[in-house]
Amino acid sequence: MQNKPINFADALASHDPEISAAISRENDREEFGLELIASENYVSRAVMEAQGSILTNKYAEGYPAKRYYGGCEFVDQVEVLAQKRLCELFKAEACNVQPHSGSQANMAVYMALMKPGEKLLGMSLSNGGHLTHGSPANFSGRLFQVASYGIDPNTHRIDMNQIREQALREKPKVIVAGASAYPRIIDFAAFGEIAKEVSAHLVVDMAHIAGLVATGLHPSPIAHATYTTSTTHKTLRGPRGGVILCSQENLKAVNSQIFPGIQGGPLMHVIAAKAVAFGEALSPSFVAYQKQVLANAKALAEALLSHGFNLVTGGTDNHLMLVDLTHFGDGSVSGKDVEAWLDLAGITVNKNTIPNEKRSPFVTSGIRIGVPAITTRGMKEPEMKQIATWIKVVITSKGAPETLAHTKKQVKELSKQFRLYH
Ligand SMILES: Cc1ncc(COP(=O)(O)O)c(C=O)c1O
Repeated sequence: MQNKPINFADALASHDPEISAAISRENDREEFGLELIASENYVSRAVMEAQGSILTNKYAEGYPAKRYYGGCEFVDQVEVLAQKRLCELFKAEACNVQPHSGSQANMAVYMALMKPGEKLLGMSLSNGGHLTHGSPANFSGRLFQVASYGIDPNTHRIDMNQIREQALREKPKVIVAGASAYPRIIDFAAFGEIAKEVSAHLVVDMAHIAGLVATGLHPSPIAHATYTTSTTHKTLRGPRGGVILCSQENLKAVNSQIFPGIQGGPLMHVIAAKAVAFGEALSPSFVAYQKQVLANAKALAEALLSHGFNLVTGGTDNHLMLVDLTHFGDGSVSGKDVEAWLDLAGITVNKNTIPNEKRSPFVTSGIRIGVPAITTRGMKEPEMKQIATWIKVVITSKGAPETLAHTKKQVKELSKQFRLYH
C-alpha cells in the first residue's frame, strides 16, 4: 500500500508566525469579501494540496523522459498527465505545461516565431489588450517592433475590417488576438483569415476566457492559431501559471524557447496542480459552472444598467464587464475613487481605462468587474442583483464612511452564506 501524502497543516503557524498571520488575514479578506477581479478565482482544495506538495523539492529541467536530472520518474508521470488532460480539454494535438506564467508563455511563442526587431500587431493596452501584446513598458514592446489595433470608436467592439487594413499595411510577422478587458466574443476565425492573407502567424492569448473555451461557450482559437497561450488561474480555475497549445509540428520550436530559452527548472508542484485543475475542467460540473458564470455576468450587467450605469459595448458576452463611470451622476467619480470605496466596503474590483479615456491609467474613468470567483462560491442571479445595488449605493454615497461600513457588514453576512473551503 502507498503512503498518503504528508499533511503539513499547522506547520507554518509555529514555525513562522508573522507569515502565518499575514496569510490568515488574507484568508479572512477572501472569505468575508466579494472578489470581483475578473482575472481571479478560487482553486479547489485538491489543487491547493497538489501545489503545496513535496514536488516543490524536485528539479526536473527538460521534458518527460528527457531530463537533465535523475529521480524524475514520478514527476514525469505528473507532467505527462497534465499534458494529456490539457490536450483533451482543448482538443489540441500538443502542448507545453511548463510556463511559469501567462507572460512567459507569450514570450516563448514570440521568440519561437520572431527575431528581435520583427513586427507584431496586437491590441493596445488602453483598449483592453495585455502588457505582453506590445506595450513599450514590457519585453514585447522592447524586443519587437509593435503596431497596435484598438476598437471601433462608436461600437467599442473589435473591428475586423480595420484590423485587416492595418495588417495589410503593417505586414506583421505575428498577429496577437486576445484581451484582458474585452467583454465580447472574439472572432478567432476572422483573425486566422487575416493572418493567412498577410502571411503572418496568429497567436491567440485566451488567458481570460480559457474556461469558456474549454466548455464550448466561446469559439475555440485552436484551429486558427499557430500558438494559443493561456494562464491557468482565471476562468480555468487552476493554480497561477501558463500553458501553450499548438500542433505537433510546432511543438519543438516552442519547447526549446521555454527551456532552455527563457526558463530553467519547471515548477513541478504547480504542474501537478495544473493537472488536477485540468481534470476538474474535464468534468460535467465545470460546464455547469461556466454556464453559471455567463448567466451571472448577464444578470449583474443588467442590474447595473437598470441602476443607470453605462457599460462599454452595452453589456457582456463573457465573464466580465467594463463600467464607464463618465455617465454616472455628474461624472466626477473616477475608477480610482470607486476601487478604493468598494474596497472599504469589502468588494474588490479594479480601476480600468475606458474607450477615449481622458484620465491617466492610474486614475481612469472605469472599473472592470468579473464574476468567476463569486460564481465558484455558489452565488447566482439573486446575489448579482444584490451586489449591483451595493455598488450603486457605495458610488452614489461618494464613499461616505457610514455607508461603506454598513455595506461591509452586509457583504460579510452574504459571504457567510457562501463559505470558501468549508
Ligand atoms: C490576456 C492576458 N494575457 C496574459 C496575462 C499574463 O499572465 P501572468 O500574470 O500569469 O503573467 C494576463 C494577466 O492578466 C492576461 O490578462
